[in-house]
Amino acid sequence: MPERSICRFPDPILHKVALPVTRFDNELQRQIDELIKIMYASPATIGLAAPQIGISKRIFVCDVSSKDPAKKLSVFINPEIVAQAGQKVCREGCLSLPDLTGNVRRAESIQLRALDVNGKTFEVSATGIEAVCFQHEIDHLDGMLFIHRVTNIKTDVFRRKRYK
Ligand code: CO
Repeated sequence: MPERSICRFPDPILHKVALPVTRFDNELQRQIDELIKIMYASPATIGLAAPQIGISKRIFVCDVSSKDPAKKLSVFINPEIVAQAGQKVCREGCLSLPDLTGNVRRAESIQLRALDVNGKTFEVSATGIEAVCFQHEIDHLDGMLFIHRVTNIKTDVFRRKRYK
């Protein structure tokens, strides 16, 4: 199987609603391993969603330990936000939009329900950068990018130097 790479805007897969995972098999594990590998190989990256590597399934991985050492790598399958509170605006970036950052309004804290690699349900609550990451990655599963979330595309989106 050829090495997958990051799909960039305007790749149509980024605009599709990804399908729920129904089979917890070796193929799923392989896709998750690939997602993790590509996340860690990408500079300044704390989360990655399956559609970003060409897999239209409801899976994302997240590791915010570089910002919060108490956290570690986690994998979320078929995630849903079951509660949320507060609001804040955060500057976000995305590997699928490497030239841009944007100010995005998000919930300040969220409660997430998801399945693990064995298909077992778990819940986790998150605040801060982790909550922002979860919301950003779930948007990817619904075919949304952060540029679709900004209040004003002219004043809330910024150019930056491209990642090498
Ligand atoms: Co992104």
